[in-house]
Amino acid sequence: MRLLVALTCLLAGCLAQRPQPCTTPPLLTGEFIVSAQKGEVTPIHMQYLYDAVGQRIRLTEKSSNANKNSVRDFLLHYKEGVVYNIFNSNQTCQTLPLKGQFQPIGIQKPAFHVGDAFLGGSSVLNETLQITTWTIALPGKAGKFITHVTKFGCFPISTLFDTDTDQFGWVIINYFNNVVGITDPSLLNPPSFCPQAEIKPEAEQKHFLNLLFEKD
Ligand SMILES: *[C@@H]1O[C@H](CO)[C@@H](O)[C@H](O)[C@H]1NC(C)=O
Ligand SMILES: *[C@@H]1O[C@H](CO)[C@@H](O)[C@H](O)[C@H]1NC(C)=O
Repeated sequence: MRLLVALTCLLAGCLAQRPQPCTTPPLLTGEFIVSAQKGEVTPIHMQYLYDAVGQRIRLTEKSSNANKNSVRDFLLHYKEGVVYNIFNSNQTCQTLPLKGQFQPIGIQKPAFHVGDAFLGGSSVLNETLQITTWTIALPGKAGKFITHVTKFGCFPISTLFDTDTDQFGWVIINYFNNVVGITDPSLLNPPSFCPQAEIKPEAEQKHFLNLLFEKD
Protein backbone atom coordinates (compact mmCIF):
# COMPACT_ATOMS: atom_id res chain seq x y z
CA MET A 1 0.00 0.00 0.00
CA ARG A 2 2.70 2.37 1.01
CA LEU A 3 4.54 1.48 -2.17
CA LEU A 4 1.45 2.22 -4.21
CA VAL A 5 1.08 5.64 -2.61
CA ALA A 6 4.73 6.34 -3.22
CA LEU A 7 4.43 5.26 -6.84
CA THR A 8 1.30 7.34 -7.36
CA CYS A 9 2.99 10.40 -5.91
CA LEU A 10 5.99 9.80 -8.07
CA LEU A 11 3.81 9.51 -11.13
CA ALA A 12 1.79 12.58 -10.21
CA GLY A 13 5.03 14.40 -9.59
CA CYS A 14 6.32 13.38 -12.98
CA LEU A 15 3.12 14.55 -14.66
CA ALA A 16 3.14 17.80 -12.77
CA GLN A 17 6.68 18.42 -13.88
CA ARG A 18 6.09 17.82 -17.54
CA PRO A 19 6.08 21.33 -19.00
CA GLN A 20 2.80 22.46 -20.45
CA PRO A 21 2.42 25.05 -23.23
CA CYS A 22 1.77 28.38 -21.56
CA THR A 23 -0.46 31.31 -22.39
CA THR A 24 0.93 34.80 -22.71
CA PRO A 25 -1.04 37.52 -20.88
CA PRO A 26 -3.85 38.54 -23.27
CA LEU A 27 -3.19 42.27 -22.98
CA LEU A 28 0.39 43.39 -23.47
CA THR A 29 2.36 46.48 -24.40
CA GLY A 30 5.98 46.38 -25.49
CA GLU A 31 8.48 46.60 -28.27
CA PHE A 32 10.03 44.26 -30.77
CA ILE A 33 12.71 44.22 -33.40
CA VAL A 34 11.94 42.15 -36.45
CA SER A 35 14.23 41.08 -39.24
CA ALA A 36 13.88 38.74 -42.16
CA GLN A 37 16.33 36.46 -43.85
CA LYS A 38 15.44 37.77 -47.29
CA GLY A 39 14.37 41.08 -48.70
CA GLU A 40 14.59 44.08 -46.39
CA VAL A 41 17.81 43.71 -44.41
CA THR A 42 17.43 46.58 -41.94
CA PRO A 43 15.80 45.37 -38.72
CA ILE A 44 12.59 47.20 -37.90
CA HIS A 45 11.83 48.45 -34.40
CA MET A 46 8.17 48.69 -33.50
CA GLN A 47 6.12 49.44 -30.44
CA TYR A 48 3.17 47.10 -30.07
CA LEU A 49 -0.14 46.99 -28.26
CA TYR A 50 -1.55 43.47 -28.16
CA ASP A 51 -5.13 42.47 -27.40
CA ALA A 52 -5.58 38.71 -27.83
CA VAL A 53 -9.25 38.85 -26.80
CA GLY A 54 -10.32 41.38 -29.40
CA GLN A 55 -7.63 40.13 -31.82
CA ARG A 56 -6.40 43.68 -32.29
CA ILE A 57 -2.78 44.83 -32.63
CA ARG A 58 -1.37 48.34 -32.98
CA LEU A 59 2.13 48.61 -34.43
CA THR A 60 3.89 51.96 -34.35
CA GLU A 61 7.38 52.39 -35.68
CA LYS A 62 10.01 53.46 -33.17
CA SER A 63 12.23 55.49 -35.37
CA SER A 64 15.40 56.95 -33.89
CA ASN A 65 16.52 58.65 -37.09
CA ALA A 66 13.35 60.61 -36.71
CA ASN A 67 11.71 61.57 -39.93
CA LYS A 68 8.46 61.86 -37.99
CA ASN A 69 6.39 62.16 -41.15
CA SER A 70 7.31 58.72 -42.30
CA VAL A 71 6.78 56.88 -39.00
CA ARG A 72 4.61 53.95 -39.88
CA ASP A 73 1.56 53.19 -37.82
CA PHE A 74 -0.75 50.23 -38.35
CA LEU A 75 -3.86 49.01 -36.59
CA LEU A 76 -4.71 45.39 -37.31
CA HIS A 77 -8.23 44.11 -36.66
CA TYR A 78 -8.13 40.38 -37.34
CA LYS A 79 -11.79 39.64 -36.59
CA GLU A 80 -12.87 42.09 -39.28
CA GLY A 81 -9.92 41.23 -41.53
CA VAL A 82 -8.96 44.89 -41.80
CA VAL A 83 -5.77 46.87 -41.37
CA TYR A 84 -5.72 50.65 -40.95
CA ASN A 85 -2.62 52.30 -42.35
CA ILE A 86 -2.54 55.51 -40.33
CA PHE A 87 -0.75 58.69 -41.41
CA ASN A 88 -0.72 60.92 -38.36
CA SER A 89 1.19 63.69 -40.14
CA ASN A 90 -1.70 64.61 -42.42
CA GLN A 91 -4.47 62.84 -40.49
CA THR A 92 -5.34 60.43 -43.25
CA CYS A 93 -5.82 56.73 -43.21
CA GLN A 94 -5.99 53.83 -45.63
CA THR A 95 -8.18 50.82 -44.93
CA LEU A 96 -6.89 47.60 -46.43
CA PRO A 97 -7.90 43.95 -46.29
CA LEU A 98 -5.76 42.02 -43.82
CA LYS A 99 -4.41 38.64 -44.74
CA GLY A 100 -3.87 35.75 -42.34
CA GLN A 101 -5.26 34.46 -39.10
CA PHE A 102 -4.61 35.99 -35.71
CA GLN A 103 -1.64 34.17 -34.15
CA PRO A 104 -1.49 34.58 -30.40
CA ILE A 105 1.94 35.36 -28.97
CA GLY A 106 3.23 32.47 -26.90
CA ILE A 107 2.99 28.72 -27.20
CA GLN A 108 0.27 27.20 -29.32
CA LYS A 109 -0.40 23.50 -29.60
CA PRO A 110 0.89 21.29 -31.06
CA ALA A 111 4.12 22.32 -29.37
CA PHE A 112 7.21 20.38 -28.46
CA HIS A 113 9.18 21.36 -25.36
CA VAL A 114 12.85 21.71 -26.22
CA GLY A 115 14.13 22.67 -22.80
CA ASP A 116 14.61 25.31 -20.16
CA ALA A 117 17.62 27.54 -19.70
CA PHE A 118 18.92 30.63 -18.00
CA LEU A 119 19.71 33.71 -20.04
CA GLY A 120 22.34 36.10 -18.78
CA GLY A 121 25.02 35.26 -16.26
CA SER A 122 24.21 33.03 -13.34
CA SER A 123 27.33 33.90 -11.33
CA VAL A 124 25.99 37.39 -10.65
CA LEU A 125 22.88 37.95 -8.56
CA ASN A 126 19.76 39.13 -10.47
CA GLU A 127 21.47 38.80 -13.82
CA THR A 128 19.51 35.80 -15.01
CA LEU A 129 16.19 35.15 -16.62
CA GLN A 130 14.72 31.66 -16.77
CA ILE A 131 13.29 30.82 -20.14
CA THR A 132 11.59 27.89 -21.79
CA THR A 133 11.92 26.95 -25.44
CA TRP A 134 9.36 25.30 -27.70
CA THR A 135 9.06 24.31 -31.30
CA ILE A 136 5.63 24.67 -32.82
CA ALA A 137 4.46 23.24 -36.12
CA LEU A 138 1.03 24.52 -37.04
CA PRO A 139 -0.97 22.35 -39.41
CA GLY A 140 -0.74 22.94 -43.14
CA LYS A 141 1.57 25.74 -44.12
CA ALA A 142 0.55 27.92 -41.20
CA GLY A 143 4.13 27.95 -39.98
CA LYS A 144 7.00 26.44 -38.09
CA PHE A 145 8.21 28.32 -35.04
CA ILE A 146 10.98 28.21 -32.48
CA THR A 147 9.76 30.30 -29.58
CA HIS A 148 11.39 31.36 -26.32
CA VAL A 149 9.19 32.64 -23.50
CA THR A 150 9.88 33.37 -19.85
CA LYS A 151 9.45 30.30 -17.70
CA PHE A 152 6.95 31.72 -15.24
CA GLY A 153 5.02 34.51 -16.91
CA CYS A 154 5.07 33.22 -20.51
CA PHE A 155 6.27 36.61 -21.70
CA PRO A 156 7.62 36.52 -25.24
CA ILE A 157 11.39 36.72 -25.67
CA SER A 158 11.89 35.76 -29.27
CA THR A 159 10.30 33.78 -32.00
CA LEU A 160 11.92 32.50 -35.14
CA PHE A 161 9.55 31.35 -37.82
CA ASP A 162 9.68 29.91 -41.26
CA THR A 163 7.34 31.88 -43.49
CA ASP A 164 7.78 29.29 -46.20
CA THR A 165 8.00 32.08 -48.77
CA ASP A 166 10.82 33.22 -51.02
CA GLN A 167 9.94 36.75 -50.11
CA PHE A 168 10.95 36.58 -46.43
CA GLY A 169 12.43 33.18 -45.63
CA TRP A 170 13.04 32.93 -41.88
CA VAL A 171 11.82 35.84 -39.78
CA ILE A 172 12.95 36.59 -36.25
CA ILE A 173 11.11 38.77 -33.76
CA ASN A 174 12.85 39.83 -30.54
CA TYR A 175 10.56 41.23 -27.85
CA PHE A 176 11.50 43.47 -24.95
CA ASN A 177 10.13 45.98 -22.43
CA ASN A 178 6.91 43.96 -22.19
CA VAL A 179 4.34 45.19 -19.70
CA VAL A 180 0.99 43.60 -18.86
CA GLY A 181 -1.98 45.72 -19.88
CA ILE A 182 -2.72 48.56 -22.28
CA THR A 183 -2.63 52.04 -20.80
CA ASP A 184 -4.79 53.67 -23.46
CA PRO A 185 -7.21 51.12 -24.96
CA SER A 186 -8.60 53.75 -27.35
CA LEU A 187 -5.42 53.29 -29.39
CA LEU A 188 -6.88 49.96 -30.47
CA ASN A 189 -9.80 51.73 -32.17
CA PRO A 190 -9.28 53.45 -35.50
CA PRO A 191 -8.69 57.21 -35.15
CA SER A 192 -11.68 59.42 -35.95
CA PHE A 193 -10.16 60.43 -39.27
CA CYS A 194 -10.12 56.84 -40.54
CA PRO A 195 -12.98 56.19 -42.95
CA GLN A 196 -15.46 53.57 -41.89
CA ALA A 197 -14.19 50.31 -43.27
CA GLU A 198 -15.14 50.32 -46.89
CA ILE A 199 -12.63 48.05 -48.49
CA LYS A 200 -12.37 47.67 -52.20
CA PRO A 201 -12.67 43.93 -52.80
CA GLU A 202 -10.00 44.15 -55.50
CA ALA A 203 -7.49 45.71 -53.09
CA GLU A 204 -4.54 43.45 -52.38
CA GLN A 205 -4.66 41.68 -49.04
CA LYS A 206 -1.82 42.62 -46.72
CA HIS A 207 -0.04 40.19 -44.46
CA PHE A 208 1.46 41.95 -41.45
CA LEU A 209 4.94 41.15 -42.71
CA ASN A 210 4.18 42.88 -46.00
CA LEU A 211 3.07 45.92 -44.02
CA LEU A 212 6.27 46.00 -42.01
CA PHE A 213 8.76 45.32 -44.75
CA GLU A 214 7.20 47.10 -47.70
CA LYS A 215 8.65 50.48 -48.49
CA ASP A 216 6.17 52.85 -50.04
C1 LIG B 1 -0.66 61.68 -46.25
O1 LIG B 1 0.68 61.32 -45.99
C2 LIG B 1 1.08 60.08 -46.52
C3 LIG B 1 2.48 59.77 -46.01
O2 LIG B 1 3.33 60.86 -46.12
C4 LIG B 1 0.98 60.13 -48.04
O3 LIG B 1 1.39 58.89 -48.59
C5 LIG B 1 -0.47 60.42 -48.42
O4 LIG B 1 -0.57 60.52 -49.82
C6 LIG B 1 -0.93 61.69 -47.76
N1 LIG B 1 -2.37 61.83 -48.01
C7 LIG B 1 -2.92 62.97 -48.43
C8 LIG B 1 -4.39 62.96 -48.67
O5 LIG B 1 -2.26 63.97 -48.59
C1 LIG C 1 18.42 41.52 -6.43
O1 LIG C 1 17.00 41.71 -6.45
C2 LIG C 1 16.43 41.91 -5.18
C3 LIG C 1 14.92 41.95 -5.36
O2 LIG C 1 14.54 42.83 -6.37
C4 LIG C 1 17.00 43.20 -4.56
O3 LIG C 1 16.45 43.40 -3.29
C5 LIG C 1 18.51 43.08 -4.47
O4 LIG C 1 19.06 44.29 -4.01
C6 LIG C 1 19.12 42.72 -5.82
N1 LIG C 1 20.55 42.46 -5.67
C7 LIG C 1 21.47 43.01 -6.45
C8 LIG C 1 22.88 42.60 -6.16
O5 LIG C 1 21.20 43.78 -7.35
